[in-house]
Amino acid sequence: MGRIKITDTSLRDAHQSLWATRMTTDDMLPVLEDLDNIGYYSLEVWGGATFDVCIRYLHEDPWERLKIIREHVKKTKLQMLLRGQSLVGYSHYPDDAVIRFVEEAAESGIDIFRVFDALNDIRNLETCMKAIKKTGKHIQACVVYTISPVHSMQHFVDTALRLKDMGADSICIKDMAGLLAPYTSYELVKAFKEHLDLPIQLHTHYIGGLAIATLLKAVEAGVDVIDTASGPMAFGSSQPPVETIVRALQETEWDTGLDLHQLFEIATHFEQIRKHKGFERGVTRITDMKVFEHQVPGGMISNLYSQLEEQKASDRIDEVLEEIPKVREDLGYPPLVTPTSQVVGIQAVLNVLTGERYKMCPGEVKDYVKGLYGKPPAPIKEEIRKKIIGDEEVMNVRPADLLEPVWEKAKKEVGEIAESDRDVLTYILFPQVALKFFEYRKSRGTEDIPQISSKDEVGEEFKEKENKAVKQPVVKGKKRLPRRGDDEMNIDEIRELILLFDQTDISELEIQKDDCKLSLRKAGQERKKEALVNPVLPAAEALTDVKTSFSDNSEEEKPARGENNENVVEVTSPMVATFYRAPSPDSPPFVEIGDHVEAGQTLCILEAMKLMNEIKSEVSGTVIDILVENAEAVEYGQVLFLIEED
Ligand code: CO
Repeated sequence: MGRIKITDTSLRDAHQSLWATRMTTDDMLPVLEDLDNIGYYSLEVWGGATFDVCIRYLHEDPWERLKIIREHVKKTKLQMLLRGQSLVGYSHYPDDAVIRFVEEAAESGIDIFRVFDALNDIRNLETCMKAIKKTGKHIQACVVYTISPVHSMQHFVDTALRLKDMGADSICIKDMAGLLAPYTSYELVKAFKEHLDLPIQLHTHYIGGLAIATLLKAVEAGVDVIDTASGPMAFGSSQPPVETIVRALQETEWDTGLDLHQLFEIATHFEQIRKHKGFERGVTRITDMKVFEHQVPGGMISNLYSQLEEQKASDRIDEVLEEIPKVREDLGYPPLVTPTSQVVGIQAVLNVLTGERYKMCPGEVKDYVKGLYGKPPAPIKEEIRKKIIGDEEVMNVRPADLLEPVWEKAKKEVGEIAESDRDVLTYILFPQVALKFFEYRKSRGTEDIPQISSKDEVGEEFKEKENKAVKQPVVKGKKRLPRRGDDEMNIDEIRELILLFDQTDISELEIQKDDCKLSLRKAGQERKKEALVNPVLPAAEALTDVKTSFSDNSEEEKPARGENNENVVEVTSPMVATFYRAPSPDSPPFVEIGDHVEAGQTLCILEAMKLMNEIKSEVSGTVIDILVENAEAVEYGQVLFLIEED
């Protein structure tokens, strides 16, 4: 026994769990030296979601951040969280990308690589562990903790033993959901200390409030290092507070030796950042405490909230939380940690939003079922597998064996705009976001600075346009946005107005703009379809046509002209998302106007909740219009395609 060492997570997990990872390098700078002087065992400062958020929302280069932190933190070891073969992304990357990423991270200043695989499938850690060994840095391999009928003490000890055989320098018990209860923690640490001759570290989350007791029992059982965060960034879905732990262990054989006064100075800085930026304090709501029921980890809860908010369905959080354990059971009890938390989370969200379980399954869920994430802890239910992938084959090899090397191809593809190998890695991880970021970086400092927009900012931009456009009736939850650059009332606007009109209870509407006057009056269901039959006509011609058809319908209530009109099917967006016409920026669109599509054929991709969802046609027919631009934000229920059914 002896002093307990502490890893501070304030610059990575704590703000990822509480502040949606939004702390900037500038926020960190004033306390980096102070953090270095505390005497922490290590500082977790990089990896996890920080990489993605840096380029996507903060317009920062994550590699640059690491370099800056390293310049200021000279004594304390820097630590990162690496998601095994998924690196800092959400799917598996080929071995060559994994090796290069590890090399660059080591060179940029990482001393300790904490690696884990969501499924505890150690095959997914082979490549990165070998690569880390080669750099001479510390491999801390995780045993991911969860509760299920298949996650026994034996399972955890076996996993740890195998990780030791693979070259782990220390083992981390990773309790990302705050599920580890104090007495189990004692038993687990004891078992690990008995079977393994390695340092043991414990990472847990506060959430339901067990964490302080859990850490103390682990200390009694002989744990070597524990994770905490600075007070203002602790509690809630984050780590327990360092100040409390330091005090609790004072004057015992495990005394951390850390100075409370110095810790409070750092806490004061983070509290100022928190207040200044309006970030949340770590709290435990009943929903959070229900983690004991639903097992949803900290980061995932705040993600689910914002995903549902994005989908304008935040009132359905309880249904989603109830659905999650069911999906988890269906899928063989994967621990809920990135990326499997996304897989289970989005499937639960879709099961709730679409009203039918497994009606819509994103590519990532299919990949999981096909074995492309690794081996699930328990077999996937047969009928569920059939529902998700049909008769498609399930893979039994190490998933990355199926991936082609990516480095040379990516390097060529990204071209001149990548200024370094680190940029190429950024591109491999998040191609579209990386390109936007590189463009932004390139033009920064010149006169013409493009506004790289977060999702919120895009919303604002559209709102402004909307105000300038014609008066529109507002339909709750189905806000329609005019296209950019539309100065005159054109066919698109008219069509949108008609759709809107159709969704309201308003029975008459008259709109005048410039020389155009549009009168709408409700008469029958045929109007909408009637208005949609000529979407590709030039504006003036179409306008006449629309007017004519309206007077036809409203006055005489004639049936729609021609049988074909009955067959126009609207393909709507089942979620708030970003619309993509092609699988990747340089490949041809899935469909063009005029194409014939079969039922089940992919029409587009909707990116929502960090996942790519293929939208398939439910009918066979001809695409008569595509109403959304590539890379445009779409709303729930927004019409994407019009298909004339065969
Ligand atoms: Co964590």
